[in-house]
Amino acid sequence: MLKETIQKMLNQQLNAELYSSYEYLAMSAYFESENLSGFSNWMGIQSREEYGHAMKFYNYLLEARGTINFSQIDAPKVGWKSVEGVFQDTFKHEQKVTESIYKLVDQAITEKDHATNIFLQWFVTEQVEEESNAMKILDRIKLIGDNKSGLLLLDHELGRRAAAK
Ligand SMILES: [Fe+2]
Ligand SMILES: [Fe+2]
Repeated sequence: MLKETIQKMLNQQLNAELYSSYEYLAMSAYFESENLSGFSNWMGIQSREEYGHAMKFYNYLLEARGTINFSQIDAPKVGWKSVEGVFQDTFKHEQKVTESIYKLVDQAITEKDHATNIFLQWFVTEQVEEESNAMKILDRIKLIGDNKSGLLLLDHELGRRAAAK
């Protein structure tokens, strides 16, 4: 049986993952409007992956006989000025997600909720990957600088990203 605090935090994380999905979808739209279809593809897949994360929390809450509390999903902040700006936001966002996952783990440990702690370990590992992916692309963008053909090459590469099975 889930304790009150951890249940509340799991619900907040469900909302945060849905927000992530929404934000990446907004980024996908931004790239499409800039004719960077490869970047747009990458973000579209990222958005669906985040929806998958939300569903993991949803399923866990149900399985643990918890209560699902749906709350309002904030609108993503749009108005990016550059490709680099988008990936700076992506990296910052993933760092924030990591922080909230860590807080969840801390709470699970405090409550001696071993099942939730184990459930959360997948997300701890996933966040290492998420931060690393965002950082790698951000570094590439910085390296490319004002070189348009470099940007198109990266766009082509990101266009090949396929959804994880
Ligand atoms: Fe996520
Ligand atoms: Fe991922």
